[in-house]
Amino acid sequence: MIEKKNKKVVVLATGGTIAGWASDLNAPHNYQAGQIEVAQLLMELKESPHNILSEQITQIDSKDADDAFWRVLAKRAAYWLEQTEVIGLVVTHGTDTLEETAYFLQAVLQPNKPLVLTCAMLAANAPNSDGPGNLKDALALAFDESASGVMVVCAGDVHAAHEVQKIHSLRLNPFSSGDLGPMGQIVNGEFKRLRPASSIRWPQPLPSVKDLLADQSWPRVLLVVNHAGNDGSMVRAMLTHDAPDGWVVAGTGNGTLDHALQDALEQAQTQGARVIRASRCSWGGVQSRADDLFAHAGQLTAVQARVALMLALMVKK
Ligand code: SIN
Repeated sequence: MIEKKNKKVVVLATGGTIAGWASDLNAPHNYQAGQIEVAQLLMELKESPHNILSEQITQIDSKDADDAFWRVLAKRAAYWLEQTEVIGLVVTHGTDTLEETAYFLQAVLQPNKPLVLTCAMLAANAPNSDGPGNLKDALALAFDESASGVMVVCAGDVHAAHEVQKIHSLRLNPFSSGDLGPMGQIVNGEFKRLRPASSIRWPQPLPSVKDLLADQSWPRVLLVVNHAGNDGSMVRAMLTHDAPDGWVVAGTGNGTLDHALQDALEQAQTQGARVIRASRCSWGGVQSRADDLFAHAGQLTAVQARVALMLALMVKK
């Protein structure tokens, strides 16, 4: 049993708008993400809890998140989660690919401690920046020993890693868990659980963190969207020049595809690629069909299905 005074939360900083800086405060929406070090972000919290450690993992705009970024983040998160005195982690992250990182971390780490991703929509030096409030809420959740798993905290809402999507490009609360609503809220610095997280089937088998770190070239899985007039030419061009290991197709509605795109993806499948059919709709997932040519993503969003397929192919390699 660790004494309360020795219990620690570690903040792993990766960049994003929460660490962004606007050079002209008359135009705070023109800023550069990933400029402010984590030590400064923590210093600027008016009252922050004690016993916080921090590590600057990288300084990126999360649009540039890639395998190398996820590898180092998973490695450091796994390390800190193993430390007995560490009761939770906070990861500061850009909003743009946060839902992908959240899904990835939950899939590969399945932590029994809270791992809380947080972010901001306004740069750190913008008037009324939302970053400090979000960071404080995330710390409150990371110190809450009744919580576990990967969660996202933003604008007072708490979302489960596999339920959250960024649905707005401007709002201070750009995340949603759809019809379910957030699984919790942070009210006056305390976590209020509103409902249990929904159940989900994680890809099986999953690579261990050790395998994932040892693998220097993760399977390449690309995402293509069905749209009016998609003639499949992009997929066919890739097949002759730079074929990926897998494709996720964000189909229309229930994952339906223009016949030309379908033909191109069938060709990819015949050549050995795995193809997963998802939907470009935010919610509802895709249902199986009697004439399915491709595996379907079920309730996974297209970007989640991309991560799931990458992990599945990693095990198969
Ligand atoms: C990013 O995703 O790194 C930039 C945008 C944001 O954090 O909102």
